[in-house]
Amino acid sequence: MKLPKFEGKAFLAPMSGITDPAFRLLCRQNGASLVVTELTNVHAIVQKEKELKKEHKKITEFVEFSTKESPVGIQLFGNDIEKTIQAAKIVEPYFDVIDFNMGCPATHITRQMAGAALLQKPDFNEKLFSKLVKAVNKPVTLKMRTGVSNNNCYLYKNIAKIAQDCGVQMLTLHGRTVDQGYSGQADWNKIKELKEISTVPVVGNGDIDSPEKAKEMMDKTGCDYVMIGRAARGNPQIFDNINTYLKNKTYTFDPQKKINSLFKYLEYTKLYNIKFSNIKMQAMQFTKGMEGGAQLRLDLGQTENIKEIKKIFEEIDVDKQNKP
Ligand SMILES: Cc1cc2nc3c(=O)[nH]c(=O)nc-3n(C[C@H](O)[C@H](O)[C@H](O)COP(=O)(O)O)c2cc1C
Repeated sequence: MKLPKFEGKAFLAPMSGITDPAFRLLCRQNGASLVVTELTNVHAIVQKEKELKKEHKKITEFVEFSTKESPVGIQLFGNDIEKTIQAAKIVEPYFDVIDFNMGCPATHITRQMAGAALLQKPDFNEKLFSKLVKAVNKPVTLKMRTGVSNNNCYLYKNIAKIAQDCGVQMLTLHGRTVDQGYSGQADWNKIKELKEISTVPVVGNGDIDSPEKAKEMMDKTGCDYVMIGRAARGNPQIFDNINTYLKNKTYTFDPQKKINSLFKYLEYTKLYNIKFSNIKMQAMQFTKGMEGGAQLRLDLGQTENIKEIKKIFEEIDVDKQNKP
């Protein structure tokens, strides 16, 4: 099956602990043209499905989502080909895209030879992608870092060729190695080099924090889409702002819209099983750039329920806020 038709150029990056179903829906409604779940362990999906089946429940109790998010991708990670296929088959009825993670730098994941560590395993990748693409009826995509260390920061090129030859339909590149973590700057030149060798759409990712930067990445690299992670936290409006800026070279940030978005997020969380600590953290992100933000975060730290979070934001003087 082909990729869905995307309405715009800006996607929401998968972010563990952040891209819960309520936040994804909010970003879709604010102009993100694709949203993706956080990375999800293939063993956990297979195991949970067995358990849920016994209770006549579906996997969507574990990987929560809403059809209103569509197009929505699920991101899988693991290092076991058969389990990845099993997991992909379990979730494919609910998602528009099956994304595979080869970008996670966390040591507890790379130590198991999963996440970005798999960039060093071309043979594994060839087997995985050739089988996975045939096994599912949804488009398979891949998200990568450039390499593991500075010595092998071009690993992504070989993996990209293997993946696209096997039928992977879109490639996302975060322009950093595993060793870099989040330090320094993402190397957009590598995104440009990927675009030059790629036969499928390329999604550029890393350090876009404004509509101007999104356009700059597209102009410099020729990438087909951009993916926004950290800058979307607390500012889902960035997607609409990017869409408008790409069309009209201008946009307006609306502080009231930002607060209203948080209220919507709080409402949506009631439909899902999201930990209150995560909701609180998400709310704190909305105080970024706000006048009196440090005090607001201290106040939010003391909250015990959604009502208390809402009250804090209701009392904010919107006229004093002007930054995303
Ligand atoms: C809190 C957090 C969690 C993340 N979790 C994931 C994840 O589950 N899967 C993934 O592919 N990338 C993950 N990433 C990486 C982002 O998708 C993205 O590649 C990275 O943040 C660079 O983009 P940015 O500069 O726009 O933030 C995560 C990043 C952050 C900050």
